[in-house]
Amino acid sequence: MISAGISPAAHSLEMVVSMSVVAASQDAIALRRMQPLDLPAVLKVQQRCYPPHLLESPEALASRQQLSPDTCWVAASSGKLLGYLFAHPWRGETPPKLNVELRQLPADADTLFIHDLALHPDARGHGVAPRLVEQALRQARQRGLRYTRLVAVEGAAPYWQRFGYRSYRIPGYGLGAYGDSAVSMQCLL
Ligand SMILES: CC(C)(COP(=O)(O)OP(=O)(O)OC[C@H]1O[C@@H](n2cnc3c(N)ncnc32)[C@H](O)[C@@H]1OP(=O)(O)O)[C@@H](O)C(=O)NCCC(=O)NCCS
Repeated sequence: MISAGISPAAHSLEMVVSMSVVAASQDAIALRRMQPLDLPAVLKVQQRCYPPHLLESPEALASRQQLSPDTCWVAASSGKLLGYLFAHPWRGETPPKLNVELRQLPADADTLFIHDLALHPDARGHGVAPRLVEQALRQARQRGLRYTRLVAVEGAAPYWQRFGYRSYRIPGYGLGAYGDSAVSMQCLL
């Protein structure tokens, strides 16, 4: 269940954006909707960002973009893809399985599930990640979704707390391939 104290994302997100150190180079980094042709470059960034046990197949990633193109974004500069965000509508607290192709989205979605956010190491620290998150959350609000949820891996929970996400537990449910240190997180939209 969502706890009564869960806080909305927007305020925290504005804080993250305004607190970011905006480097001059950021102006040249543009966001756009992910296209199917971006997948090879996305996979290269994924490879730079995660250990082998967290790498997902092209099919698993492509299925998210195909089912929800409006909530999957990339950051690019001079034709080079620097980062990406996969997100899609979902329902309830139980996250989709990692590295498994999504066949369909729930008809009664209430949640924007942020599946993956990753930036090439050279593109980090310039506030690009909050811009990607903001784009996806804006689409989610326009669709009338109420919550946003994700699974933080590799110790990223403190990062997501900056956006207002808080951890929650699903009794009797393990996060499987996400890894032993994975944390379920949620936030009101
Ligand atoms: C997570 C990620 C997208 C953040 O991008 P970024 O450009 O580093 O982040 P921002 O510019 O928004 O913010 C930088 C701040 O967040 C902190 N931060 C970045 N990644 C973090 C993490 N994984 N855990 C905790 N804090 C983190 C930085 O230390 C920095 O802190 P400061 O403001 O006190 O100096 C990037 O680090 C990344 O691609 N990591 C690998 C993939 C990953 O772990 N994705 C999240 C999976 S749930």
